[in-house]
Amino acid sequence: MSLNVHINPDRVIGQRSPMLYGHFIEHFHRQIYGGIYQPGHPLSDEDGFRTDIIEAMRHIKVPIMRWPGGCFVSSYHWKDAVGPERQPLFDKAWRVEDPNTFGTDEYVRLCRKLGCEPYICTNAGTGTAEEMSDWLEYCNLENEGRWAKWRIANGYEHPHGVKYWSIGNENYGHWEIGAKSAAEWGLLVREAAKMMKHVDPTAELSAAALADPAWNMNLLQHAGQYLDWISIHEYWDMMPEVQNPATYEQCMAFTDRIDHSVREVRGMLAALRLEGRIKIAFDEWNLRSWHHPNVHTIKQGVGKDSYVTPRDKNDDNSVYTMADAVFTACFLNAMNRHCDIVGMANFAPILNTRGCIYSHDGGIVLRSTYHVFDLYVNQLGDQVIDLWQQGVMPAMTVPHKWGGERTVDCLDLLATTFSDNPGMAIAAVNKDAEHAHAIAIPLDNPARITLLTLNGDSKDAYNTVGYEGVQVTERAIGLCSSAIEIELPAHLVNVIRIG
Ligand code: AHR
Repeated sequence: MSLNVHINPDRVIGQRSPMLYGHFIEHFHRQIYGGIYQPGHPLSDEDGFRTDIIEAMRHIKVPIMRWPGGCFVSSYHWKDAVGPERQPLFDKAWRVEDPNTFGTDEYVRLCRKLGCEPYICTNAGTGTAEEMSDWLEYCNLENEGRWAKWRIANGYEHPHGVKYWSIGNENYGHWEIGAKSAAEWGLLVREAAKMMKHVDPTAELSAAALADPAWNMNLLQHAGQYLDWISIHEYWDMMPEVQNPATYEQCMAFTDRIDHSVREVRGMLAALRLEGRIKIAFDEWNLRSWHHPNVHTIKQGVGKDSYVTPRDKNDDNSVYTMADAVFTACFLNAMNRHCDIVGMANFAPILNTRGCIYSHDGGIVLRSTYHVFDLYVNQLGDQVIDLWQQGVMPAMTVPHKWGGERTVDCLDLLATTFSDNPGMAIAAVNKDAEHAHAIAIPLDNPARITLLTLNGDSKDAYNTVGYEGVQVTERAIGLCSSAIEIELPAHLVNVIRIG
């Protein structure tokens, strides 16, 4: 029995920003050093960037990349990492030495090579409003003042032109260096935002937030008049201390109310009449939290085997299965539906750790989530249009990792059109681990149908060095006249191109 899917191309839900498919890279484990930045490596270019990684990032048209953290940033001082004399840092967040050889100028150069917007998260942990605004002077002033003159002396005559800035990272959390109370946070953000806007009124500012009324109301009442964005983060399969990945079915349970944070923050913005002026930046998200035991804890690990070596477990490619691909597609579908207020989302991270790209000395592996970004960026339209279904949506009851069960829809559908060419593209996700489900789509006019399918040989399929268990296949269905009926096999992500 097919589910009848109706689409109204004339009813545009919203224009999706390219930044909905954004990314994040942090000074953590092998994301920067041993990752994108490997001077002298045979695969690296004259700037020390791995060209194979750059090529993979360019293929998914990375629109914006947040840096340098994450928890790392909350005790990071940017001035130690520019100029000819770099001061090595003992990174108190992750308890390792950072050589500071990759700093602001290297980061901006990387973004220019990728063709993406830089997005800098500032240190609101141990940092000050002045240090944050000095950073803006360094990046964006023509030549006024000591910091712009320092950039010029470092060989960058023209401003870097960094448009997007975030004040702080998760300063609400006990694990964050320089954690703040809600009252402290609103006042600090106000003063930092004021100084930053005095340096560059065109800069777009965000601040660390979460779906918490007390935190957000304080923040928005004190600093809302200076902010353009509000940042939220979410990870679902929490594994910071123990690497025990949720099963496929448990991951599907995490899709229940996948957009709850957006709904709650939207309500708070509306209550303060800020909806429409302040957008949501979901600037860290991933199904899987990062694994880094004994540092987000009151009692810190003693001996690197207790808190550094275990980070290598993030590199286990078998963790990143079709569950990650299906969840990622469901999250991106949800953000598309909220594209009127969610203007940015940043997959955390893009490279290594839980990223969509895994790098090793001989090359890279495109994990299952990479192919979702490839399909969404390169095959889906930028206009979200109305879609509704007639008939009973198949549902499934799945176990939740933290206990109990959830009943969720088996299918997740999103319809899009293109602002620059005719035709439609529908994202059709079948979350069911075992059963195929069919959809029927009436066509107003005859159209050529092409099916792009991301699937694996099982729900637990993954990609790793020398083995590709997950790939995209393309099938031309041909010219269809009045309606199409498509069977969606179990555990997969489809894009249906129409026209
Ligand atoms: O696990 C990585 C951390 O997750 C990021 O550094 C931080 O922003 C979030 O808590």
